[in-house]
Order: sequence, then structure tokens, then C-alpha cells
Amino acid sequence: MTAVQTELAFEPLSDAIGVEVKGLDLSTPLDEATVEALKDVWYDRCLLLFRDQDISNADQERFARYFGELEDVRTGEIARSDMPYTMLITNVRDTGMKTALEDGEMWFHYDQCYYEIPARASALYAMEVPRVGGNTLFANCFLAWETLPEDLRQKLDGLKAHQIYDYHGNPTKRGENIAADAPQYLHPIARTHPETGRKALYVNRLMTDYIEGMSREESDEILEKLFRHSEDPRFIYEHEWRVGDLLLWDNRSSMHARTYFAPDDRRMMRRITVKGEPVI
Ligand code: OGA
Ligand code: MN
Repeated sequence: MTAVQTELAFEPLSDAIGVEVKGLDLSTPLDEATVEALKDVWYDRCLLLFRDQDISNADQERFARYFGELEDVRTGEIARSDMPYTMLITNVRDTGMKTALEDGEMWFHYDQCYYEIPARASALYAMEVPRVGGNTLFANCFLAWETLPEDLRQKLDGLKAHQIYDYHGNPTKRGENIAADAPQYLHPIARTHPETGRKALYVNRLMTDYIEGMSREESDEILEKLFRHSEDPRFIYEHEWRVGDLLLWDNRSSMHARTYFAPDDRRMMRRITVKGEPVI
């Protein structure tokens, strides 16, 4: 094992969440000690930023593999048949590659929380960014859980919430409106992070439908309270993208949302995800 590269430095992106990692070039392999140092910071701060990276799809795959096995694309479309782990999150339609997910803006969510085994991590690389907007917000959900009133935490700990992938249904009118064939799963409201043992609030405005075992009325009321609490700016970092940025988020402890950008502007992100573990 070699020593951690000496130029490695960490700078917080905000009080709540995120760290910028300086001194690494991700177009070349990282040594084991560096990867271990990255993991320690990442588990704690939920989000790593690497700026000014000139990386290929293969470089991004190699980087993501340090954090686990790569996840097949399960929702949306593979960009190209020789890039089986890659989705393009984009409104750009002139590259000949297939695109995934929608453009425009998007509410807070955890990736794939509607599957039994949601992704552990997502690595998103900026290839083209709009002139204005199209930022990504990241919320620290450890803090969201830890700052809930004690009585609410006691009430919710051990309960499960129903998560569903149904972007086309109106999330404010769910209930009667659930597509039976949409991917969906019940997961704990307080999710335990496997490496740190800390609990994170695991509900979100885009995908969480109801709390199991509660009346619809009570569930709606509590969920709205939880969404508002978790979206409080004190838990959030807003990332303004530059071309060459790579962000890696911990999908067990943070949620994210994209802000609006003009549809006639171009935004192209390359996303590779890391397989997760059973949710506990
Ligand atoms: C994602 C996602 C947000 C963005 O790739 O999972 O939600 O800002 N992206 O593109
Ligand atoms: Mn996402």
C-alpha cells in the first residue's frame, strides 16, 4: 500500500453537506490509501466534488468501482450499447445516443428508492451545462432525521413508507392514482447507514406516497411535515455546475433535486451508479 497522495485536500462545500476534493486527477487510477481516505470523508459528508476533471466514460466507471460494483441501468435507457452502466441525464437530443430521465426541473428524491435494493451511490459528470440554472441541490438526511422532535422520531422509527417511481402521475394526487406496474417498495422511514450506523430520514417529495399502517390523512400530514423539514436550507448545498465537475453522492444519506433551466439551453450529464445493499 502506498501513502495517501500528499496533495490531497478536502474543503467543505457548505456547513451541512459536501466536500470538495482537491489534488486528484481521476483520469488515472487512485491508490488504495487515497480511496480509503475518500470513503471516510464521503460517509460523513455524503457528497464529494472533483472539479476540472477531463475524464472518459471508462475513467468514470473505474472511479465509481472504488465504491462498489456498478449498477445496470434499470430505469430509463442505456446511452450506448458499449456503455452499459451509463445514463445520460440531458435535454440534448443531437448526439445519436439515447437519453434517460427527464429534463427540466425535478423535486427532491433518492435515486431508485422504489426498488428493493436502491443504488448506493451515483457519480454524475458535467459535459455541458446551461448558462443559467440547472443546479443540483443536495440535502443531508442524517441531519434531517437527527433534528426532528424526539417524540416524532420515536413515533416514526420502525415504520415504513411506500416509495414509487411514477413521475407522470401527479404526486399530489396519489392514492387513487397509483400505477400497479410502476416500480414500488416499502422502506424504513429512518434508514440506517451501513458504514456509520447513523440514521437518515428516508422519505422524499417526488417518490414517497404513504406511511404504512396510518390513515391517509395522518400519513399525508406527517409526510408534508417531513418533506418541509428535510428541504430546509440549513441541510442543503446547492451546486452550480461547471463543465468537468464530477459529483459522487451517497444515496443512503442524502437526497437531491435539480433546479429549472431553460429548455432551449443545453445540459448534458453522464451518470454511473453503484449497486447498493438491502435497506435496514
Ligand atoms: C440523477 C439526478 C439531477 C441533475 O442523475 O439522478 O437526479 O441535476 N440528477 O441532473
Ligand atoms: Mn436522481
